[in-house]
Amino acid sequence: MAILNILKDGDETLRRHCRPVEKITPRITRLLDDMKATLHKANGVGLAAPQVGVLRRVCIVECEPGELIDLINPEIIEMSGEQEEVEGCLSVPGRWGITKRPAKVTVRALDRKGNSFTVNGEGLLARALCHEIDHLDGVIFYDKCVSMLSPDEIEEN
Ligand code: NI
Repeated sequence: MAILNILKDGDETLRRHCRPVEKITPRITRLLDDMKATLHKANGVGLAAPQVGVLRRVCIVECEPGELIDLINPEIIEMSGEQEEVEGCLSVPGRWGITKRPAKVTVRALDRKGNSFTVNGEGLLARALCHEIDHLDGVIFYDKCVSMLSPDEIEEN
C-alpha cells in the first residue's frame, strides 16, 4: 500500500465532478487500499478519490477505528433530521467550520467486490458520509458552513 499525496484546497482537481466506476478493476481496489493507508497516516475519518487526484466516485470513511467502509459510486438515498457540528477536511488544513448536515442518512454503494449494500449513519458517520460524497461533486465542506471557527477557537480545540 502506498501513501498518496493529499491535494490541498486551491487545487482545481478538488472542484471537478467525478465519474462513476463502471468496472471494479485491480486499479480501483489498489486505489482503495492506498486511500486507506493514506487516511490512517493522516489520522482522518474520511477520504475521497479526488483528494488524491483520481476523478472517480470512490471514497472511504472510518469513524470508529477498524470500521472502515469502502464506498464505490455512493448515493444518499434517504436523509432525515439536522445537526450542526464542527467539521474540517484533510485538504483544508487549519480551517474548521460549523456545517449543517442531516442527522441521519442512508447511503447505497458498491463494495470492492461489486456488491450493492446500504449503510445507515447518524452523528459523525452521517456527517462523514455527506462530506465525502460532496467531494465527488467538487464540493468542499466550507461551501456549506454556516460559520467558520476563528483562529482562537481552533487553538482551544
Ligand atoms: Ni474532506
